[in-house]
Amino acid sequence: METKLQYLPLEKIEADAVAAVLFEDEPPPSELKFASSWLEELRASEEFSAKSDELATLHQPSALRARRLIAVGGGKRAAFDLRKTVATVVRALKTKGVKKFAWWLNGADPEAAVEGAILGNFEPDQYKTANQGKSLEAFHAVAATNGADLDAAFERGRILAEAQNFTRELANEPANRLTPLMLADRARAMAAECGLDCEVLDQDRMRQLGMGALLGVAQGSAEPPALIVIRYRPETAPRTSDHLALIGKGVTFDTGGVSIKPAEGMEKMKYDMSGGAAVLGAMRALAKLKPAIPVTAFVPAVENMVGGRAQRPGDIVKSLDGKTVEVLNTDAEGRLILIDAITYAKRQGCTHLVDAATLTGAIVVALGHVNIGAFANDDALLARVMAAARTEGEKMWHMPLDEDYKELLKSAFADLANIGGRWGGAISAAWFLREFAGDTPWVHLDIAGTAWLDDAKPYMAKGPSGVCVRTFAKLALGW
Ligand code: BES
Ligand code: ZN
Ligand code: ZN
Repeated sequence: METKLQYLPLEKIEADAVAAVLFEDEPPPSELKFASSWLEELRASEEFSAKSDELATLHQPSALRARRLIAVGGGKRAAFDLRKTVATVVRALKTKGVKKFAWWLNGADPEAAVEGAILGNFEPDQYKTANQGKSLEAFHAVAATNGADLDAAFERGRILAEAQNFTRELANEPANRLTPLMLADRARAMAAECGLDCEVLDQDRMRQLGMGALLGVAQGSAEPPALIVIRYRPETAPRTSDHLALIGKGVTFDTGGVSIKPAEGMEKMKYDMSGGAAVLGAMRALAKLKPAIPVTAFVPAVENMVGGRAQRPGDIVKSLDGKTVEVLNTDAEGRLILIDAITYAKRQGCTHLVDAATLTGAIVVALGHVNIGAFANDDALLARVMAAARTEGEKMWHMPLDEDYKELLKSAFADLANIGGRWGGAISAAWFLREFAGDTPWVHLDIAGTAWLDDAKPYMAKGPSGVCVRTFAKLALGW
């Protein structure tokens, strides 16, 4: 989709449709005066009263060049979410023959508008050979007067949303089309395109280093693992010695291993690399938006399979950090690959660690599909992550990590067990990671409930959400 920010008065906009937002309890903007009898009639007939996401279409508006005027209900201004509203309208119109769509900003933020358009236009239909979802060809946001800051905001929004869709495409790839090595290839291609440095550690290298926890998970698969490392370095010397690590779980398929999952719904476990995909999407955005601090991405990529070489419950593995882990459940594999990535990130000089992982079913029980579960050993870093998430409308809930939970991970035969029992499962999983983050400031985001939409929303297609991409990018940009 072509996107552009234009500077034009409403009546000069040329498009199949132009949208204008009206708010409840506010008179329509004066620029819509030409349509006032239509708007009054809409209100009187109770067809449209500017409630959230209500739409009304005026064809061939006399005063406009656009073929249609879409009145969009904004609800109450204080609760208005432009990104979601644009996405909702795009999804409603793109099936109705609108190809070139314009949004009359009337002072609103071009960044959120273009994000909404690009995210709403996404369909996970790349493998449908027929009946592909119709999509917009062009989206033009239209402001009244020029401004460099508006141009920058629009460009930022375009980059962020395209990065998020890149992540959604990766997360949606089935496991036969995205093995760990294929994920590494996609990461390499992205890095080359964006001018980032990419290094892929192969199985031999990981053996040399002693990444026993990661390799234990990988050994059950015929597909070799990879640890993807992507480096962004600012062009000018950074102001601080801070170095941010973004770490993402990259399980390209999670059968559960010998502790196998039930068949029903197992196909969804292709999205068990959503954390890794989010990290790669964020790096793609950062390469273009150029934050002031160094950022390194780490994506441990494996397939968790059953088979004659698979690890067994009771196996004891030695992590890169030196601690031993008793694998009581082979389905708790995300934490095993993440701890070696965390240790490696620290050894690479990273001073702040943020990970995203579809880590536990327990976080879905706790928070449903609405909030990301956020765990931290450092209040300042947590505050930064939460603030970035808030600006991007990505909901996050701070979860507890009291010392009391730590004992859940006791093992009779090794330093730690990889599971903590039935209750508080998202917390014991986070504690497991924390043991390896140590004193390095660290935030863990459990996205098991938020990386995938089981049902389409008016503003978003069913399937991969691309959550965390914009939060990660904003976190680095705001440093
Ligand atoms: N990938 C799963 C977590 C998951 C569950 C993601 C549902 C998305 C939706 C993870 O590897 C896993 O299987 N976790 C186990 C841990 C348990 C064995 C302690 C779980 O949550 O059941
Ligand atoms: Zn699992
Ligand atoms: Zn998993």
